[in-house]
Amino acid sequence: MVLGRLPLYGEPEVSPGRSQASSLSAEELVVAYHERTKHHYHRFAASVGYMDWATQPDPFRRYEGASLVRLPFPEMGQALSYWQLYVADSMEPAPLSIDSVSLFFRYALSLTAWKRFHETTWSSLRANPSSGNLHPTEGYALLPAVGAIHDRPGVYHYAPKEHGLERRADVDASVWAALMTAFPEDSFLVGLSSIHWREAWKYGERAFRYCQHDVGHALGTLRFAAAALGWKLFLLDRVDAMSQLLGLNRDANYAGAEREHPELLAVVVRGNWASDRGLCLSKEVASQGAASRWYGTANVLSPEHSVDWPVIDEVAAATTNPTTAIDEDFSGFPAEEELFEPPVRSGAFTAKKVILGRRSAVSMDASTAISAATFFRMLARLVPTRDGRSVPWDAIPWRPRIHLGLFVHRVNDLSPGLYTLARDPEKVEQLQQAMRREFLWRRPPSCPRGLPLYLLKEGDCRALAASVSCGQDIAGDGAFSLGMIADYMDSLVTYGAAFYRNLFWEAGLVGQVLYLEAEEASIRSTGIGCYFDDPVHEVFGISSRDWQSFYHFTVGGPVEDKRLTTLPAYKLEEKRSAP
Ligand SMILES: Cc1cc2nc3c(=O)[nH]c(=O)nc-3n(C[C@H](O)[C@H](O)[C@H](O)COP(=O)(O)O)c2cc1C
Repeated sequence: MVLGRLPLYGEPEVSPGRSQASSLSAEELVVAYHERTKHHYHRFAASVGYMDWATQPDPFRRYEGASLVRLPFPEMGQALSYWQLYVADSMEPAPLSIDSVSLFFRYALSLTAWKRFHETTWSSLRANPSSGNLHPTEGYALLPAVGAIHDRPGVYHYAPKEHGLERRADVDASVWAALMTAFPEDSFLVGLSSIHWREAWKYGERAFRYCQHDVGHALGTLRFAAAALGWKLFLLDRVDAMSQLLGLNRDANYAGAEREHPELLAVVVRGNWASDRGLCLSKEVASQGAASRWYGTANVLSPEHSVDWPVIDEVAAATTNPTTAIDEDFSGFPAEEELFEPPVRSGAFTAKKVILGRRSAVSMDASTAISAATFFRMLARLVPTRDGRSVPWDAIPWRPRIHLGLFVHRVNDLSPGLYTLARDPEKVEQLQQAMRREFLWRRPPSCPRGLPLYLLKEGDCRALAASVSCGQDIAGDGAFSLGMIADYMDSLVTYGAAFYRNLFWEAGLVGQVLYLEAEEASIRSTGIGCYFDDPVHEVFGISSRDWQSFYHFTVGGPVEDKRLTTLPAYKLEEKRSAP
């Protein structure tokens, strides 16, 4: 039997709440949802509070009746170094073929290992992390005719367990050409959807947040997977016709099965094509739906749902309207040489090793320290560069709206204490006004001049970091941990309610970079979705709703769980690479 790995950071029992008033505006609904799903020291957000194993959702969606194209396990043509992922145009773009499509999904959404616990319990891990390892995110591709996949364009659902593409629909060549008219030849689309139930089963009302974090992480893995092939990926302007394009609106295909909610579409382009940062599909074609014929019926993931969480449906509905969030001016951002100490273009591992080796630490050793240079480099990866082309930030067309409140514990030559990283250098003043008056705002010694990092307060904050992260020791036992502080109200006012999702996506992207950077530094990190919202704000002196913590993270020396046996993700791949 396949069981999800369920770490013990869940919430105690709280009864499900009633839904929110329907007379609220979309923005008010978002704010009400965010408030009611905060964890407080005295009360967790509503969830059933126990694991109902009988209704545990299947982590693998399949479309019965759709034909499956099994993807091969090719070797990378060029052994790419991890650091090269960040340098656009550092390799010749791979041609579009079944091999390159296979590598793209292998690096983005595939299984990376099977774990066995006590001989009986099995769970799989993936390239993209997920809160509670519940994996609410489903992946799609809209591909042109690609030899050995199909002789005409089509809509495909990615099946991670099989590492295959389920052909969900055919698209006529002329319709495909009209749909993709704005993009260069051999471009294709990728889509992500969420099955809220998979997270809500365990986490109740807060689950919508976790689904959005997971989408952000997956957007990151997609961008890095594209980079590994010399491709670019750009998030498309929120596409209101996404359900039609991916077939998610087709009642007949979901009879009794859990619905998927559309999240995002992105275009993958080969070669040296520069986006104008506001990309659209042909609206006429997209709104009619591109496919001519659909295949397959979704599997049922749980025999029944013991509880419904109406506020999740409400916040999902309130955040579906298309939003246009395009910032063009990155002139105030640092150049690469101002952000990084040389040599920036070097590193220890290959891209493949880092991407497929990424894992969450389940426990930290409370002793490993990292150098200040490593710390600065990790943070520098999180700041877009002036040319707007640094990976993965080139995938999203808005300026950073997520900043960091850091708890530094073990970084050599740096005082332990509270720090902040303003990921948009022009936001320093506003953050200063929002935070405690008595904070120091002192630049750490030897910090690269382009890195907007400030020491706020010296002191041992290990217990504090663990305490605000739902009492999880990993937040105090690493080298550093952090809260991701969102420019929340201004984002909702500027871009509308739907941008609530984008804030989580950006937080997930930040997290994905930290996951990979930790691998490259031979340490580990872990996303932390369970934290006490307002107590975190209190630490930094944030008293208004304008700024809100959206995600936590910890980075440090891991303690391996010796009770686990790790097995390869795919038997076929293992056979292929045997001597
Ligand atoms: C959004 C999100 C929230 C998470 N929250 C926590 C957390 O609060 N505590 C924890 O120990 N792990 C947390 N994790 C780590 C997951 O448990 C982990 O990603 C999952 O078990 C899969 O393992 P892997 O990351 O090694 O693939 C979180 C991960 C994500 C993506």
